[in-house]
Amino acid sequence: MSDQHTPLFPHRHLLGIEGLSRPDIEALLELADKAVEVSRQVEKKRATLRGRTQINLFFEPSTRTQSSFELAGKRLGADVMNMSVSSSSVKKGETLIDTAMTLNAMHPDIIVVRHHAAGAVHLLARKVDCSVINAGDGAHEHPTQALLDALTIRRNKGRIEGLTVAICGDVLHSRVARSNIILLQALGARVRCVGPSTLLPAGIDQFGVETFTDMRKGLEDADIVMMLRLQRERMNGSFVPSVKEYFRFYGLDEEKLGFAKPDALVMHPGPMNRGVEISSSVADGAQSLIREQVEMGVAVRMAVLEALAQHLPEAQHSPNRGSK
Ligand code: CP
Repeated sequence: MSDQHTPLFPHRHLLGIEGLSRPDIEALLELADKAVEVSRQVEKKRATLRGRTQINLFFEPSTRTQSSFELAGKRLGADVMNMSVSSSSVKKGETLIDTAMTLNAMHPDIIVVRHHAAGAVHLLARKVDCSVINAGDGAHEHPTQALLDALTIRRNKGRIEGLTVAICGDVLHSRVARSNIILLQALGARVRCVGPSTLLPAGIDQFGVETFTDMRKGLEDADIVMMLRLQRERMNGSFVPSVKEYFRFYGLDEEKLGFAKPDALVMHPGPMNRGVEISSSVADGAQSLIREQVEMGVAVRMAVLEALAQHLPEAQHSPNRGSK
């Protein structure tokens, strides 16, 4: 544990994995491991964020991220408000910054933001007084997803260093892929990106990953197969000939999973398109970690909230504040 003068996580916001050091990431994973134990107890409530206000501001749909941030905040004792953008003044033309300034005037301690524009969360963080967490900004970053994926891998494989992770599918439109590439490499994994050339971003090699357009070669000897959703809502034009063709060449079924190591594990951030990027038999099969990823999502978000809570102004004057 850290003391008052040396916070285990030296950042006031979590805007991306980019900019975090390996010790920063490992500190969050350690906290998250403890949060898993808390979440498995009958009595889950802690006082870490007692008296604090957390606003979840989601400009894009979410099931997993929003609900897990709500549960995480509540388990740590915060008052959590879910801002419904569909019924807010955003619908009347209010800008992101005006919305942020309005919420800022209500003195929140932490704002969790998802926005369709890359960079929007960084902009918002410069305008408000509280801590800001990126819950996904366009095709840029989704840091808590990458952290929960790393936690899931570490708990199942015992390590991340030296593993081969194949990230497959629509890498071009994926903030999950970008955050995972940065994080997994920071922890010593070898990362491959596998997909049709139309869905691999130009310049992806500069990220230090290997790229493959053939699933057989891309999955060979992989320890982890991480499938991505085909993000048709972000596509202007046609990137794949048809969903049927896409599944034939890039959908993960038992035959393609057979190219990976026999003990390879399968991941998907959700929401899944069954029969498009993954078959139901693999998604629900013995090698799938998809349900466990959801559980780790709550733990990682508890860890991030707890880490940022150390930087909230009042906490410096309340040494007894913290977990019961
Ligand atoms: N993985 C993920 O971000 O899921 P949601 O869109 O449901 O939050």
